Amino acid sequence: MNIVIVGTQFGDEGKGKFIDLLAKRADYIARYQGGANAGHTVVIGKKEFIFHLIPSGILHKRKKCIIGNGLVVDPQTLLEEIENLKKRGIDVKGRLFISENAHIVMPYHKLLDRVSELARKRKKIGTTGRGIGPCYTDKVARTGIRVADLIDEKTFKKKFKKILDEKNQLLRKIYHQKGFSYRKVLIEYSSYGRRIKKYVTNTSLLINRAIDKGKSVLLEGAQGTFLDIDWGTYPYVTSSHPVVGGVLTGLGVGPTRIDRVIGVAKAYTTRVGGGPLPTELPKRLGERVRERGREYGATTGRPRRCGWLDLVLLRSAIQINGLDSLILTKLDVFDELKEIKICTHYRYRGREINFFPNSLRVLSQCKPQYEVLKGWQESISRIKSYKKLPPNTKKYVKKIKKLLGIKIALISVGPQRNQTIVLDKTLR
Ligand code: IMP
Repeated sequence: MNIVIVGTQFGDEGKGKFIDLLAKRADYIARYQGGANAGHTVVIGKKEFIFHLIPSGILHKRKKCIIGNGLVVDPQTLLEEIENLKKRGIDVKGRLFISENAHIVMPYHKLLDRVSELARKRKKIGTTGRGIGPCYTDKVARTGIRVADLIDEKTFKKKFKKILDEKNQLLRKIYHQKGFSYRKVLIEYSSYGRRIKKYVTNTSLLINRAIDKGKSVLLEGAQGTFLDIDWGTYPYVTSSHPVVGGVLTGLGVGPTRIDRVIGVAKAYTTRVGGGPLPTELPKRLGERVRERGREYGATTGRPRRCGWLDLVLLRSAIQINGLDSLILTKLDVFDELKEIKICTHYRYRGREINFFPNSLRVLSQCKPQYEVLKGWQESISRIKSYKKLPPNTKKYVKKIKKLLGIKIALISVGPQRNQTIVLDKTLR
C-alpha cells in the first residue's frame, strides 16, 4: 500500500512520529518537497533524532529512503546528517537515493533569504533562513543548479560562474553585502558534489519500478497545507507544495499509484513565523500549551504560536488533499485543561464560513466561532486503547469526527512510538 502523509495545518503536526511508525510497513520512504526548513523529530527510548532532509524512515534498517526532485537540497546539511547518523550506528549506504533533478541550495540562497527578510521590515514572513525561497525562485527562473549539475564538475564550474556573477551583483548593489568568492565556493561545493555522487540517481524510475514489483512506498510531506505556496496564507507560506499534489511533481509518481492519503492534525493549532492564526490563544494560555506541548521549532528553536483546533482549516485540508482519514496528535497536551474549545466555523459579516478564505483581508475580518467542551483533567499518556480513554476525551474526538465527517485513524498521546492508539486496524 502506498500512503501519503500530509500536514493539515501550518506544519509541525507531529508527522515525524507517524512517518517513523508507518515506515515499518513500507519498503521505501520518499520525501517530495521542501528542504532543510523541515525538522522531523522522532523519539526512540531516550534518543531523539531530528531530520531536516533525510526521511526519518532511515532509522529502520533495510528501508530505502528517497530525496525527490521536488526538494531543495543543502549538501552541507545533508552530509552532516549522514555523518551524524553514522556516529549513532546508522549507515545509509545503499539505502539513500537523491534525485538528479533536485535543486541545490547555494550559500547565496541562504544569505539572500536572510537579507530579503531584513528588508521586509515589519512584514517579515519569518522564514527559517535556510535559503528555501531563493532556491525555489532560481528553479522557476531557470537559473538553478541541480544535483545533476553539481556532480558533473565541468557543468557545475560553467554554470556556477555565470550565476555567481549575477548573484554577487544583486548582493552588492541591492543588499550592500560583500558577495562570495568564486574559487572558495567552487572548491567547497565541488567537494560536496563528489561526496554525494554515490547517492544520486533517477529516483522516479526507482520508485515506479519498485511499485511495479509490488513494493510499498510511504510518501512523506514536510510543512503543512496552509504553508503551501498555492493553498497557504500567501505570502506567509513556504515556496513548495506540501499538499498531496506535490507528490506527483516532486517524485514523478502518478496519482493512480497512490492508495491512501492520510492527514496529520495536532489537537490544537500552531504556527511559527508570521501570518494569520485565527484561533490564536491569549498569552497566558498560549504559553501553557506551548510549554506542555514543547512547541519550539525543531529547525530554528523559535517558540511556536498556539491556537485552538480550527475545523475551518481542517475542512479545507481534507478537501484539497482528498484525505481518507486523519491522525490526531498531541491530545495529551490538553490533560490539565478545564475547558477545551473547538473552532467549528467563522463568522464574516453575518455569514457562516466553513472553508478557509483565500483572501487575507477577508480572513482578518473572520471571527472564529467556538464550541466549548469539558476537559478530562487526567493523564492519558499511558492509555493504549480508545475504549479506555476518559469520556470527555472521547467526546472531543467524536466531535471532531462528526463535524469533519472523516475517520480518525490513529491518536497520539505522547512522543514515543508506543504512545499511540490505533483505530484503523489496517495501519497496525
Ligand atoms: P521557509 O520555508 O524557510 O521559506 O519559511 C516560510 C514559512 O514557512 C515561515 O513561516 C516558516 O516558519 C514556515 N516553515 C517552514 N518550514 C517549516 C516547518 O517545517 N514547520 C513549520 N513551519 C515551517
